[in-house]
Amino acid sequence: MQIIRDVKSLREAVSALKAGDKKIALVPTMGALHEGHMSLVRRARECADHVVASIFVNPTQFGPNEDLAAYPRQEAQDAALLEGEGTAIVWAPTVAEMYPAGFVTSISVGGVSGPLEGAHRPGHFDGVATVVCKLFQQVQPHVALFGEKDYQQLAVIRRMVIDLNLPVEIIGVATARAEDGLALSSRNAYLSAEERRQAVELPNAMRAAVAALAAGEEPEAVLAQARARLAAAGFGPIDYVALADAASLEPVRTLASPARLLVAARLGKTRLIDNFAVDTTDMD
Ligand code: PAF
Repeated sequence: MQIIRDVKSLREAVSALKAGDKKIALVPTMGALHEGHMSLVRRARECADHVVASIFVNPTQFGPNEDLAAYPRQEAQDAALLEGEGTAIVWAPTVAEMYPAGFVTSISVGGVSGPLEGAHRPGHFDGVATVVCKLFQQVQPHVALFGEKDYQQLAVIRRMVIDLNLPVEIIGVATARAEDGLALSSRNAYLSAEERRQAVELPNAMRAAVAALAAGEEPEAVLAQARARLAAAGFGPIDYVALADAASLEPVRTLASPARLLVAARLGKTRLIDNFAVDTTDMD
């Protein structure tokens, strides 16, 4: 496995991998890898001949009061995990390589970037879209894989790829969860032992809400109950408990087409997000 830090060497290494019509899959990450990332890498190996994983803590997607400085960095450990899963290249550019002096270009995906995370983290999705577009240009993969854990991010990237005719297939992979149901996230490392015990109320409250919606209960009442349950479990502030159209992420008040339940809430200093599909069969 090669660890590469400059675009020129990356291009040469990827060209060599592509020889003989071989297919390349990209797994973009910010490092601090866990089983969720590894499930992306394993899936990537199934749909391509070679896997390139990027590790880049992208400063432009962090707000001024967010955790850029504290974000866990453990490249040697990450590289060992990636090598164990048969990754061919780790693309780990420096900030200066990704954003050379004079860099001023930004990609802003309208519509789907607006609500939810977009409303609570201004500029976040511009940072994500720009770096992901750059990663696609740098690696030029046939497919790229993203976790459904960051559901809105996946929707933003899908929209960008369509709008900009980017020649890459986007594959969304189901959220990996701990045994108790908490979605795996690099930020779970910030939780104290007590908070980690409380955190399970997030998927539990969401699963109860999904079941209530499937049973035909009024969305507004269900969302209010979920919010109250999270507040009672010690979450706060709760940024949103929302029911949104599965594709556009516009808010939905009555269930007719595929929808998603999405939550962002803080537990102590840690901001957790999660989402679940809402089954709309038999609801129209
Ligand atoms: O999901 C992430 O880890 C990041 O947002 C991504 C897609 C690697 C872009 O920096």
